[in-house]
This record gives sequence, C-alpha cells and structure tokens, in this order.
Amino acid sequence: MIDQAWREVMRDADRLRPITLAELFERYLSRFERFSLKDSGLLIDFSKEKIDEDSLASLLELARAARVEERRDAMFRGEKINATEGRAALHMALRSGAGERVLVDGEDVMPAVREELGRFLDFAEAVRAGDVTTVSGDSFTDVVNLGIGGSDLGPAMAVQALAPYHEGPRVHFVSNVDGAHLADTIRALDPARTLVVVASKTFTTQETMTNARSARVWLEGALGERAGAHLAAVSTNLAATRDFGVADARVFGFWDWVGGRYSLWSAIGLPLAIAIGAARFRELLEGGSAMDAHFRTAPLEQNLPVALALIGIWRRNAMGWPSVAVIPYAERLARFPAYLQQLEMESNGKRVRLDGSPVTHNTAPVIWGEPGTNAQHSFFQLIHQGTDVVPVDFLVAASPNEEIGDHHEQLLANALAQSAALAFGRSEEEVRAEMNAAGISAAEIERLAPHRSFPGDRPSTTILYPKLDPFTLGRLIALYEHKVFVQGAIWDIDSFDQWGVELGKKVAISVLPALKDSSGDALPEGFDGSTAGLIAALRSMRVTALDE
Ligand code: F6P
Repeated sequence: MIDQAWREVMRDADRLRPITLAELFERYLSRFERFSLKDSGLLIDFSKEKIDEDSLASLLELARAARVEERRDAMFRGEKINATEGRAALHMALRSGAGERVLVDGEDVMPAVREELGRFLDFAEAVRAGDVTTVSGDSFTDVVNLGIGGSDLGPAMAVQALAPYHEGPRVHFVSNVDGAHLADTIRALDPARTLVVVASKTFTTQETMTNARSARVWLEGALGERAGAHLAAVSTNLAATRDFGVADARVFGFWDWVGGRYSLWSAIGLPLAIAIGAARFRELLEGGSAMDAHFRTAPLEQNLPVALALIGIWRRNAMGWPSVAVIPYAERLARFPAYLQQLEMESNGKRVRLDGSPVTHNTAPVIWGEPGTNAQHSFFQLIHQGTDVVPVDFLVAASPNEEIGDHHEQLLANALAQSAALAFGRSEEEVRAEMNAAGISAAEIERLAPHRSFPGDRPSTTILYPKLDPFTLGRLIALYEHKVFVQGAIWDIDSFDQWGVELGKKVAISVLPALKDSSGDALPEGFDGSTAGLIAALRSMRVTALDE
C-alpha cells in the first residue's frame, strides 16, 4: 500500500515537473486560498510550491499509508517509538496542561514533570530576584550556560529570539570545546558575580565537561573553595553532577524520554527562564502545547505540521531537491536555522529504516539559512539564478516588537518580494523590452539580457505569525518538531536516535593522546595514513610555534 502511494506521488511529480509555477497560478486563480492553511493566527502559504490538487491528494494518501495518525497517537501514548534506544519520545509532556495524565511504562509522569518545572522556574525567579546570591550576598549579573547540541541550541536560539522580554541577568552560551569560545565569553565577566550552569543530559559530553572544568578553575581563581555556590547543573545523571561538585539542590533533572534536541522545554530551558522569567517561560510551553493539541486533533488536510512535512517530502523525494534554505525575516531568529539543523538533520539524517533495512527514499535534506534581508545580499544570487533549485521556508512576523519608522514594512516588503521573484522570475523578453525602453543599444541588450533575466519557477513556503513572542515561538518550534516526526514516520526511520555522531566521538578519544604525545618525530601508529600525517604535522607546527 505504501509502495503504491509512493508511486502515485512520483507520477504526479513527473506530470508537474515541466509545468512552471507561473502556469500553475494561471490555471488556478484561487491558488492561495486552496494551498494555504491557517490556525489561530499562524498561516502557512504553500501555493508557491509546485503542487496541485492531485499531488496534494497523493501526498495525503502517502501519509495515511504510512499510518502517520496511528504513529502520532502511539507517540502521545508514550510508546517506545525510539526503538533503537528503547525509549518513548514524550517531550510534549513537558508542556502539557495541568490535570493531564501522560503514561510511561504505565506510570503517570506528570506529577514529576510539574514538580521539576516548579523547581527550576523557582530557581530562575530566585536568581532574577537576587534571592539566590553570590558568595558575597550580591545578585548574579551574568549567567553562563555550558552545553552543546540540544543542551545549547534551543535555549541559545530562544534567548536571542525573545530579547525584548529579557529583564533578568545577562545570559551567555559557551558550547564549543575551542577554548576561544570560553575565553571570549568570560573575558568581560566577573567570576564573583557569575553563575555557571552546566547543561548536559548525560554529563559525559567531552566538550561540555572540558568547558565545565575550565570554568570551575576560573571560578575557583576568584572564590576558592566556595566556587560551588556559583554552579548549577541540568542533567539526568545525578551521580556525575555530584561528583562534579554541584549540590543536589542546584541540579535540575529531566528524563530519558526527552531527546536532547527536544529538551528546550525541560530544565535545559533554565537559562531562558532566567532571562525572561517563569511567566514568560510558561507562555512558551503553552505555545508548544497549543501546537500539540492542533497536531493531535486537526484532520490531516488541515494539519499544519502535516502540511509542512508533506511539502518537505514533495521537495526532497518527488522533486529531488537536496537542500532547504530557512530564511527568517527576523534578526532575532538568527539561530533558528542552526536550531533546525540539529532538529531535522540529527533526527532524520538516517540511512536505514526501523527494521534495519536500507531506506527506500532519500531522507532529511540539508537545512541551512540566515536571516533576511542579509541573506539577500549574500547567497540569494544562487537561489535566484544558480543551477540548483533550493526551496525556501520564509518566516515572517506580521508585527514587530518595536515600531521604528517603517523598518518593519520594509522587511515585509522584502520577504514577499523575494518569494514572488523566486516563483515568477523575469523573462528575457521582459528584460529586453525594459532595456529597450531605457534606450539601451541593441548590442548591449543582446550582451546583457541573459545575465539580467531570472528563470523563476523556484519554490517557497511562507509562514506568517503574529509577532515573535514566547507563545508564538513555542508554537513555531513545536510546528517544526511535529513536521520532523511526520517525515520520520513516512520514511519509516527512528527520528529520535543519533548513532551517527558516535563514531566521531570515539575517534576523537583515540586521537587526543597521540596529539598530546611529544615524544619524537615518528608517525603515530594505529591511524590511517592521512590522520597519522596530520597528527605528525600538527605536532611539529605546534613545536615550531612554541619556539618562535
Ligand atoms: O551530538 C550528539 C548529542 O548527543 C546531541 O543529541 C545532544 O543534544 C548533544 O550531544 C549534547 O548531549 P548532552 O546533553 O548529553 O551533553
């Protein structure tokens, strides 16, 4: 049944490939009304994607054949859908409303969820109010979050996104094991007024633990044995946090059914809660919860995450386009593409299905992007006139957080102009006519017209939201989370494991001692020729640098 559904989708793709977006708009005058969805102030316009009624019907049939609804219900029931790790995927429980029951292994996890939420939000409020103090009894002016991947990207993205709601201490993020990241961050900070939060689900991640040890040395330099009073931790590994010297009362936990890249809603959100406060943090959770309710109850045809997922399947599998540019027309969403990179590429960058057999279709595309309008002045050239088709997700707020002249109208005009220009382009005939009218010579027109014309027919989806506030950000994040889930269901892969990052970690562990070994010029053993050569070259470059 699923094979047949895929065949129908591919047949539609063959039919639609030679038809341009301009032609599709000519054929179907109410395309926008037909190919856009709205729910409580969120609008997704996918009329500028190369689809029509029949192909949308085929995509919905594919979702049904993949049992998307049954799989969704199994996820919400707490079944262990992360099969390779034997875990549930229940980050939605973290944003569930009061009174709901969520069962894992037959046990309602909600009392513990509510208790931990209360604990870390109380702590955040106490830091903001100056009730949790430095060793000298002062308030903390700065908070440094040490974490990487899911223990960094979510809160770092959200703290920037919600800057207008920020009235707590300054919040900084250090993720990279490159000492430059820590050095540049703490250079301007006073350890006597800084709280360090070590955020790591496992509390074993090499980068985070290296940064944590160095930050502790920095704190100890100023505070001596009392440095522990400037530490807090977020982890599921209480034994390790204790070993590191963090008092249990300063450790905030979560559960193995919360994946790292889905953990912003848990205590991993602590730095965000310190920045914006408990009430605003709860609004973010409510936004996520509103999207959960929509995803669970809206019919497939009206379901925003399902629509976004099917558009993605269409782009990736039917049209064969390997990458997607995410362009928020919102400077404060600058880290949103990076956040989505982990969410989508770590979740769905998989090559085998749940049963271990090779996938039958390509999985996650490459996600990349930068905020508009800056992106227009860098890589948009390629998207308009390059040889590859790169579909774009535009994210656009109807209202700004601050009214400054007509900045926002200009921003909106640019976003809409880009999606229109990509879709409809400018033909060589139009360019010639325009140049002719401007009195340009025939020879010059001949020379320049091919360069100045745009093929168009480049697809995009536009997501409109009212304003970038905590509730809306929660909805947007959950929208993409569920989109990723639906695509994983259709590809029949495990969206909640990440075995692909393990090998690199292991190899790094074996390379480290060889790099540190300074006992001679011999090529290190046990490595491939290239790695051994690079290790030897680095050793000698480091020695030369020390001699200089
Ligand atoms: O890169 C792999 C990964 O496990 C991510 O999935 C995770 O978000 C990140 O490392 C950090 O892990 P931890 O929170 O355990 O330090």
